[in-house]
Amino acid sequence: MPDIHLAEPPGTPPRPPRRHLLAIADLTRGDVERILDTARALSRSLDRDVKKLPTLRGRTIVHLFYESSTRTLASFELAAKRLSADTMSLRSSGSSVDKGESLKDTALTLDAYDPDVIVIRHPSIGAPQLVARMTEAHVVNAGDGKHQHPTQALLDLYTMRDALGRLDGLQVAVVGDVLHSRVARSLVQALSLVGARSLLVGPPTLVPRGVEAMGCDVSFDIDAIRDADVVYVLRMQRERMEEGAAFVPSLREYTARWGITPERVRTSQVVMHPGPMNRGVEIDPAVADSDAALVTEQVRSGLVVRMAVLYDLLTTGPVRAAVPLEVA
Ligand code: NCD
Repeated sequence: MPDIHLAEPPGTPPRPPRRHLLAIADLTRGDVERILDTARALSRSLDRDVKKLPTLRGRTIVHLFYESSTRTLASFELAAKRLSADTMSLRSSGSSVDKGESLKDTALTLDAYDPDVIVIRHPSIGAPQLVARMTEAHVVNAGDGKHQHPTQALLDLYTMRDALGRLDGLQVAVVGDVLHSRVARSLVQALSLVGARSLLVGPPTLVPRGVEAMGCDVSFDIDAIRDADVVYVLRMQRERMEEGAAFVPSLREYTARWGITPERVRTSQVVMHPGPMNRGVEIDPAVADSDAALVTEQVRSGLVVRMAVLYDLLTTGPVRAAVPLEVA
């Protein structure tokens, strides 16, 4: 037998207890504040010439994406790399998913490589829970159908706190296609966790009945956005609208009645959008490109917040002391 030196390097922290981030309901207010504060600390690394930190060296993070993504996948991959983890990305096209492999078999296959974290995006509600059951990895939900997108909500809170200096007492109007939006569901819950209020605004066909039970207000009048500190614009999710079902008479009419135009935004308000934007549909290009828009800030926050989520999952409990967060 060849003599291969296999001892762990000194100081290697033990694997922390398994936790997941599947939904905002998995978090307490304290968890949210800790993640946002970690993200703030990590943001200082962005000012350095060398941006990589050794924090998650030797950890393996798999990104399993069954739906298209630009921002979420790019920022998760970069977040993992900036923390020195090894990363692997699998998209449904080009993998054996193309050949009809089930999510269960794909999860079992990946688990055989013993990854520390699996980040999954999937069109079916509950797919991340299934992966959490089938594997030993920490699982992060990067969007499951119209259900949840918890890291988007966290990066939105981070962006709001950064721009407005507080979250407690903030009024956020969430406008548009709430019915098909996992972003809206996660955001409303996250806002109420930190003491902010949300008002859902849109046509009755695109606001789910009984949604007030999530702890938000509802209005079918676009003028109701005037009292908000933040106007959060949702994308018209045409890919989730069943064919034949008319949710709005026409996109042109939607834009006329619900589109966020310069006339509808007050000077003291900020405007957010998770991307990708349908310019000229839910948001007027003049608003998207104005100083009021925080869209680029949201993308930037996505990187540090996802770094913070990975750090938090992989270094909690007794291990935290073994992996100090040094961004000097
Ligand atoms: C969102 C998503 O995929 O749910 N996008 C994102 O993650 N930045 C919102 C959307 O697609 O409209």
